[in-house]
Amino acid sequence: QEIELGGYEHYMLKEIMEQPEAIRTCLTGRIDTREGTIVLGGLSNLSRELVRAKRIILSAQGTAYHAGLIGEYLFEDLAKMPSVAHYASEFRYRNPIIEEGSVIISISQSGETADTLAALHEAKDRGALALGAVNVVGSTMSRDTDAGVYLRVGPEIGVASTKAFVGQVAVLTMMALYCGRRRFLAPETVADYLRQLEQIPDHIATIVKQSDMIRDAVEKVVDRDNWLFLGRGYSYPVAMEGALKLKEISYIHAEGMPAAEMKHGPIALIDDGMPVVFIATQGSQYDKVISNIEEVKARGGRVLAVATEGDTQIEKYADFVFRVPHVAEALQPMLTVVPLQLLAYHAAVLRGHDVDKPRNLAKSVTVE
Ligand code: G6P
Repeated sequence: QEIELGGYEHYMLKEIMEQPEAIRTCLTGRIDTREGTIVLGGLSNLSRELVRAKRIILSAQGTAYHAGLIGEYLFEDLAKMPSVAHYASEFRYRNPIIEEGSVIISISQSGETADTLAALHEAKDRGALALGAVNVVGSTMSRDTDAGVYLRVGPEIGVASTKAFVGQVAVLTMMALYCGRRRFLAPETVADYLRQLEQIPDHIATIVKQSDMIRDAVEKVVDRDNWLFLGRGYSYPVAMEGALKLKEISYIHAEGMPAAEMKHGPIALIDDGMPVVFIATQGSQYDKVISNIEEVKARGGRVLAVATEGDTQIEKYADFVFRVPHVAEALQPMLTVVPLQLLAYHAAVLRGHDVDKPRNLAKSVTVE
């Protein structure tokens, strides 16, 4: 086991740290930054059906569901395709309407999650084309879908999913860009996205260097039992994922939500010293996020912000700042989630928990 851990104390930390390599492998051979083209061999002859789909249904549980929420934004933003993310467990039992031209994309690390499989079978029975974004080769989901794109991030052992999440988002990004390119996006626009996508592994390598700094910040607030995670746009699902990570391994209660929702209730929770994590990267909603931060500060909250490198303004508002390099908004989740993974990891270690074996959780939930 020591050899497998490669010098790291936990699988989770190892898997966070190996994300640059994992994502590089996920992208390799699939993107051509000069031509602005994407090759997803696993979709084979079904790519036309995907490009012409009238509706994309993204279905998953847990962390993979958060990747699905990002997928919803990606397909609408980059490919202008109506799309919606569902918890597979809910989708399965709502008597779902599957119109002609519907494509379901099942997202899963293990490819064995019972609810996600059940939703997949239900959608298929009702006539949807079924695609997968799955990590484990040969898993039930990879066999039961019509086609798919493997994550190729390597085995994930830590119960709290990290590199699989970024791999899921990377695959969905490629799928959305692929559709956008075939539908209306100019080759130069796609090429520009792909050049930025190619940089993501290096950017993650820069971000993880802040691990010690993140631990020092977390140490100052780790005694608090209630946290909020807030973001807007592409950062809203990342906020949900950050909160889930913290809950899973540190047993701290946390909620993630769109920053604007804070005013509709959760703001009542904010008291002196409550940690509030903001994803406050530069982009179309930056100013709105800053005013949300001000509202939290005015009520005594302690703000931990994930911000863009070079943004000096943020220091005026946040108590602790973690940095990510600047990329297009659509690509930011693959970066902004990384400080939150490290934050959850350090919080759990500081509280003395076994990070790789969190209580009550299983790596793969194979019962409904
Ligand atoms: C379990 C794991 C989570 C994971 C979820 C979905 O709850 O603990 O980390 O996100 O299942 O698993 P999947 O294998 O379908 O991605």
